Amino acid sequence: TSSIPFHGVHQAGIVNPAPSAGALAAFDVLARDAAELRQLMQGLTQRIAFLTQGGQAPSRDAKFPPLDSGLLGPTIAPDNLTVTVAVGASLFDNRFGLASVKPKRLDRMRGFPNDALVPGLCHGDLLLQFCADSPETNIHALRDIVKHFPGQLAIRWRMDGFLPHKPPGDDGAGRNLLGFKDGTGNPDTKDKDLMDRVIWVQPDSDEPAWAAGGSYQVVRIVRHFLERWDRTPLQEQQTIFGRERTSGAPLGKAREFDDPDYAADPEGKRIPMTSHMRLANPRTPESQANLLLRRAFNYSREITKAGQLDMGLLFICFQADLEKGFITVQNRLNGEPLEEYIKPIGGGYFFALPGVPDNGVFLGQGML
Ligand code: HEM
Repeated sequence: TSSIPFHGVHQAGIVNPAPSAGALAAFDVLARDAAELRQLMQGLTQRIAFLTQGGQAPSRDAKFPPLDSGLLGPTIAPDNLTVTVAVGASLFDNRFGLASVKPKRLDRMRGFPNDALVPGLCHGDLLLQFCADSPETNIHALRDIVKHFPGQLAIRWRMDGFLPHKPPGDDGAGRNLLGFKDGTGNPDTKDKDLMDRVIWVQPDSDEPAWAAGGSYQVVRIVRHFLERWDRTPLQEQQTIFGRERTSGAPLGKAREFDDPDYAADPEGKRIPMTSHMRLANPRTPESQANLLLRRAFNYSREITKAGQLDMGLLFICFQADLEKGFITVQNRLNGEPLEEYIKPIGGGYFFALPGVPDNGVFLGQGML
């Protein structure tokens, strides 16, 4: 199977297309001081470099428990695994003396009006995002990391996600559990200048120097009320998003990537002003400052206490400026008609660390 390079100016798992299996694990860091945190970040960097490139599973004396879980057999295939490391605002409290190097806009996520945040599904000192072609590769990587750092990391919450297989020939966005193509309006990840402007913290910004090349990562665990949604007429569903369900095209247009052409519809007769996509990105010159890159997964868990399907969206987005990106866009979405069908229950604000250029450097080195 193929591998995604680990070394680079930016971490992998952000602008490369999302594969079919995703997993998030948020941790509390148990390391007691900056030196121990340094060791943890060095160790994490080594594990991720190995896991993402694959190779022979390490073995040792049969009298001891095996070093590797064995889940993937003796040869660990890379399976396009990426493990992306992000830090939460709490890592910059007084434990490690890092307050002065905190990314400027990194804060503890506060609830928005439609939220019903479950404390056990929120925040964390550290967030690991696993993405691979199969869920077992993510599970193997998570177990490897949990096993290697028992004294330094304690899992706080975790969520698994997936993307559906696309029919052959469909090079558009994958579908979410509401049946709509999700990701169509994303900025073009192949446009390097655009990514520098929208996603990556730049060296000449007002952020601490070490943060250049990183990106603010927002996670929102958003439950769907699917029983209600599945009884909602198609036209209403489409009005809520502003797009056709089958093709993903903007209402009144033919193809998924057609421009919604808001100029020709100033009063929202074709695409309502309150539709999700028009609120999220009105495509005005000013709203160019609020672009973000969504890289979401669907999730499906058990059932709720009320016996309803517990499914939804692991909303994940990246941006160079948390306030101009997610916070501004979410504030515009507050009160949108879609809220009748969704309930954000968890997540947090994180900062995805800059990448490591080569073996001599470790993740987070610049801030430690
Ligand atoms: C667009 C679904 C939450 C920001 C869309 C589209 C769908 C969708 C189907 C249209 C296709 C596309 O352009 O990708 C959902 C669902 C959500 C959710 C099901 C939660 C349950 C959010 C949140 C934000 C957001 C929390 C950010 C605060 C956007 C943006 C667009 C978009 C920026 C692109 C608009 C454009 O450029 O035309 N979303 N979304 N979405 N959504 Fe969401």
